[in-house]
Amino acid sequence: MDITMKNNTTTVGGSYGTRIADLYIVHNLAAVNGSNRHTYHVMPPVGWMNDPNGFGEAFGKYHLFYQFYPYSPSWDSMHWGHYTTEDFVKWKMEPTALAPDGMEDGDGCFSGSSIMKDGKLYLIYTSVAAERQTQSLAVSEDGVHFQKLGVVISGDQLPKGCLRTDFRDPKVFKRGESYYLLAGGLTEKGEGSILLYRSQDLRDWKFVNFIRKDTRTTRGIYECPDFFELEGRDVMLASPQGYQTQDWRFENVQSSIYMLGTFDEGKGTFDVAYEDEIDGGFDFYAPQTLKARDGRTIMIAWMQMWQRLFPTAKHGWVGSMILPRELTLKDGRLYQSPVREIERYRWNHVHFGNVTIGNRNELTKVNGTKIELCFSLDLGTAERVGIKFYQNGEHDARIYYDRAADRVVFDRSRMGIDITHDAEEKDATVRSVKVSTEHNRLEMRIFLDVSSCEVFLNGGERTMTGNVYSDGEGIAFFAEGGTAKLLSLDKYDIVV
Ligand code: FRU
Repeated sequence: MDITMKNNTTTVGGSYGTRIADLYIVHNLAAVNGSNRHTYHVMPPVGWMNDPNGFGEAFGKYHLFYQFYPYSPSWDSMHWGHYTTEDFVKWKMEPTALAPDGMEDGDGCFSGSSIMKDGKLYLIYTSVAAERQTQSLAVSEDGVHFQKLGVVISGDQLPKGCLRTDFRDPKVFKRGESYYLLAGGLTEKGEGSILLYRSQDLRDWKFVNFIRKDTRTTRGIYECPDFFELEGRDVMLASPQGYQTQDWRFENVQSSIYMLGTFDEGKGTFDVAYEDEIDGGFDFYAPQTLKARDGRTIMIAWMQMWQRLFPTAKHGWVGSMILPRELTLKDGRLYQSPVREIERYRWNHVHFGNVTIGNRNELTKVNGTKIELCFSLDLGTAERVGIKFYQNGEHDARIYYDRAADRVVFDRSRMGIDITHDAEEKDATVRSVKVSTEHNRLEMRIFLDVSSCEVFLNGGERTMTGNVYSDGEGIAFFAEGGTAKLLSLDKYDIVV
C-alpha cells in the first residue's frame, strides 16, 4: 500500500479540516507500530478506520473512501479518508476527502456513497450536528478535492414517526432517468427501517416509501444499505444493529445481510425472495459494492466489528478492509470469491497431493502469515478435520469441519487474548456455518495477512472472516476421531 503523500497534494485545495488532517498524517506516520499490520489489506495510515464509503469508479480509477479519525485509534468525529486503486490489491493514499468542519457536519461526516453525474464525482454522506443526522452532498471535478454543497435531505423530510437522530448512510443509485437514495432510519416505536427517496438532480429529494421496516433489529437501525443489480436480479445489502440470532446465523452483535428480490421503483418497494447473512465469521461489517469496468460486482467491507476490544489500538491504528470480493449468483444464493487480481501477487508455489491426515500433519514449506492456501479435503472418517494456523505451540486459530454438528467451525479461542467487550455478545471466539459436504468433500481457500483470516468455502458458497491476534507462523492439518485425506493443497506467499 502506497502511503507516501507529496507535500503539494496535502496543501493544495481541500478544506481547513482536511488540510489539518493531512498534515497530522504526514507527521505521525512513523509513530504507527508495524505489529499486526496487514500487508495486502487496506488500513488507515494512522488512527481509526471503520466503514467503506463511496466505493466507485471515477476519472479512470476505483475510489474507496472510509470512515476515518486520524488523531487517535478510536472512533471520534468522522472524516472521509480516501484511497484509489487500479486492481483492488494495491492502494494509493489520497488526501483526506471530507472533514467535520462545517455547520451541518461539525460532529461528523458519517457513511455514504458516491455517484458520477455530468463528469463530476458526487459524495452523498450523513452530516451530523447536535445529534441530528441529515444527508449532504459534496462534489469533485478531479476525484481528489471535494467541495461541500450542504444538506440535501433534512430531518423535515423524514416521514412522520421517524427519529432525526437515527437517519443515515445514504446509498445513491440511478434507475431509468431517476436517482434513488436508500438510508437507514428508526421509528419512535423502535422499528429499524430503510427509507427510499427519489430525485432527478441529486439535490431535490422526495420521500417515496419505507422499503423495509421491522422489529428484528433489537438495538437500532439498518446501517449502510447498498443496492445493485446482479445477473438480472435486484440485490440489497444492509447492516442491521442487534439482528436477532437464528440458529448459527447472525451471531455478532451487528450483522450484515443480503436480500435478493425485486425493486419496484414506481411503488418504492423491494420484494424479498431470499435473505441471508453475508459472512459467517466475526469481523465483517458495512459492505459496499461497485460495478467494475468489466462488469464484475465487487464488494468491500470493514474487517472489524463493533462492541469489541481492539488490540491494535496500542500500535496506533484500528480497522481494515476485507480483500475485495467478486459477487455472483448460483442456485439463487450469493457466492463470493476474492478479486481475481490477487492471483498476480502469488509467489513461491508449493503443492501437495493425496496426504493422509492424522492427529497432526505439518507439511514442508507450508507455513507463514501472508499466504493463500487452497485445498480440498476428503473428510474420511474423522469427527473433526481441518487446519490450525497462526500457530506457535501455545496459540493458534482453527478452521475445521465438525461432523456431529455438520458445520464448518472457525475457532479463535486459543489466540491468546480475549476481545469480548459486550454483555450481549456471549462469545467472540467461535463461529460456524453450514455448507454442502456432498461426496464427503470440502474445499477451502484461506487468505492470511498477519492478523486476519478470510475463508472461502466450496468456491464461495459461504465465507468466514476474522482477525486473529497471535504471533505464530505455523500451520498444521489435523483429523480427530478418524482419518481424512488432503486431496490437493496449493500454497502461495502473497507479496504486494
Ligand atoms: C456503521 C456506522 C454508520 C455510521 C458510521 C459512523 O458502522 O455506525 O451507521 O454512519 O458507522 O462512523
